[in-house]
Amino acid sequence: MTTPVQDLPLLLLGRGADPGSERGVDCPGELPPASDPALVERARAAKAALGDSVFVLGHHYQRDEVIRFADVTGDSFKLAQQAAARPDAPFVVFCGVHFMAESADILTADHQQVILPDLAAGCSMADMATFDQVEECWDVLEDAGVADDVVPVTYMNSSADIKAFVGRHGGVVCTSSNAKRALDWAYAKGKKVLFLPDQHLGRNTAVLDMGFSLDDCVVYSPHRREGGLGPRQLRDAKMILWRGHCSVHGRFTVESVNDVRERVPGVNVLVHPECRHEVVASADLIGSTEFIIRTLDAAEPGSSWAIGTELNLVRRLANAHPDKNVMFLDKTVCYCSTMNRIDLPHLVLSLENLVAGKVENVIRVDEETAHYARAALDQMLALP
Ligand code: 13P
Ligand code: SF4
Repeated sequence: MTTPVQDLPLLLLGRGADPGSERGVDCPGELPPASDPALVERARAAKAALGDSVFVLGHHYQRDEVIRFADVTGDSFKLAQQAAARPDAPFVVFCGVHFMAESADILTADHQQVILPDLAAGCSMADMATFDQVEECWDVLEDAGVADDVVPVTYMNSSADIKAFVGRHGGVVCTSSNAKRALDWAYAKGKKVLFLPDQHLGRNTAVLDMGFSLDDCVVYSPHRREGGLGPRQLRDAKMILWRGHCSVHGRFTVESVNDVRERVPGVNVLVHPECRHEVVASADLIGSTEFIIRTLDAAEPGSSWAIGTELNLVRRLANAHPDKNVMFLDKTVCYCSTMNRIDLPHLVLSLENLVAGKVENVIRVDEETAHYARAALDQMLALP
């Protein structure tokens, strides 16, 4: 017998899990109470009134109450593609987190405005690499005499100025669905990669997809002098990983994998590549949120699936596939608290503000940053 996802102890992780990283952001306008029974109708009416002038994008980790109003749902890659493909809508309401909305702003036309319903919806992983820290890291690489050999690759989960840094140095953005292709591209150009900010996605891709050894990878710690690495280690390494991680995916352990295999004979373990290396190495399948959804859609009725990713998505999959045994990989279930900040009251407020002619919570990346970040994002969109 497995415990239904709903009955497990609950945690909220994400930006809110990291003391001091919460943004103090006031809500522009009056936020409707979550208990307002008219919220669904209000969202429907506002969206209908806005018609084609608004395009709502929803990441797979969003709450059900929000995702039902999305025109398109997707993983980070699909949402970036979709944002770039809709030049007719003057307003793009992005139900996701800050770095995704920034990328949408960079990829949309100048006349379009991207709105994030709650400006406090950040990402603790993206916050783990600041522009100054990355500049300092590059100085360390230069001092070690290796910078000319290094191609920077940043995960989509990074701020626009980190993407701009990468674009300025001839690198590329990647997501969890194209990290191998991005690394193939980068290693055709240079001998080493500086991978920002998720050490796990970088290591998992290098070792499990590219055939590197763990010894080919070193970890640069931004809070240690010279990253905690000597020039020799930097010269010998093929992959320089930034010490960043996702607190939501960091919860899954090999013990959770072993435990579910014991409890549920024949279970398939399917995890996101932001999980730690040991977890990913012991899983049956690894992939982005979009891949996880496609895999469950194609799965045999009666099959069992333990999924290592954010709870909103796992719960939606469990509800969508009553003929399959879908469970959360860990014993304690866990939302991404910042994804969860976008709730129906915030969506209603954003849409009703637009109906009233008020454009609030606009995400605008300055022109110079956008220029270089776009180079790295376009390079990603052009990957074979
Ligand atoms: P995907 O690109 O797989 O949707 O992942 C985004 C993310 O933030 C996972 O934590
Ligand atoms: Fe950031 Fe995604 Fe982790 Fe949330 S689940 S903290 S958005 S990396």
